[in-house]
Amino acid sequence: MKYITKKLDFSNQTLEEMSLNSKKFYNLIKKRRSVRDFKIDLIDYRIIKNAILAAGTAPSGANLQPWHFVVIKNKSIKKKIRIAAEIEEKEFYEKKAPKEWLNALKPLGTDKNKSFLEEAPYLIAVFEKKNSIKNYKKIKNYYVKESVGIATGILISCLHFSGLSMLTHTPSPMNFLNSILKRPTNEKPFVLLVVGKPKDDCEIPVFATKKKSFSKISSEF
Ligand SMILES: Cc1cc2nc3c(=O)[nH]c(=O)nc-3n(C[C@H](O)[C@H](O)[C@H](O)COP(=O)(O)O)c2cc1C
Repeated sequence: MKYITKKLDFSNQTLEEMSLNSKKFYNLIKKRRSVRDFKIDLIDYRIIKNAILAAGTAPSGANLQPWHFVVIKNKSIKKKIRIAAEIEEKEFYEKKAPKEWLNALKPLGTDKNKSFLEEAPYLIAVFEKKNSIKNYKKIKNYYVKESVGIATGILISCLHFSGLSMLTHTPSPMNFLNSILKRPTNEKPFVLLVVGKPKDDCEIPVFATKKKSFSKISSEF
């Protein structure tokens, strides 16, 4: 089949600029930290919109873009999400979680209390779509998790670049999000992002700042 092409819009940089820009990005992104203590103050919705637009540019299996983002600002919806999440988290911390998992979480100091779900000005629920509708026909999506993971990474990077903080929250299971947010059954919650500005006295676990070295996370031939 013949496919239509267009000229790539590519900005050529010198080697020096490329190296400098990669360093600049690394210096910026290494300051991203998960935050669990948010200011109630509202933030500009345009930042959220641009971050979602950025996420929507992500590569995806066969360009099927198997994602949906729900932005939640409404207080009573946030409250409903907090109540449902805390039910799951209570079950997790008190019954379901294996000892090994609880031990891994210990240095983060997390527990069943999820007050940040009401305090943060915005929540973004990211859904993965196992299929889509095209020309009234159901079509299967490919590499859904990989694609949605990449899109979420771009979303998080854009929020950080814009000066916001966030938390990736994953109460398990998260299917309560389908009913609260009225999403169809072909969509599955992927992650719930909690977004805002950190409180002035916000503290983070030192454990989370320790990242593996270059030699531990990469190899070369
Ligand atoms: C897929 C995923 C799920 C996570 N789920 C939770 C969660 O439910 N609750 C929480 O407090 N943190 C959660 N986190 C945040 C991690 O604890 C955090 O990323 C890690 O400790 C490293 O800290 P950093 O994000 O500041 O680098 C999650 C992170 C990822 C990537």
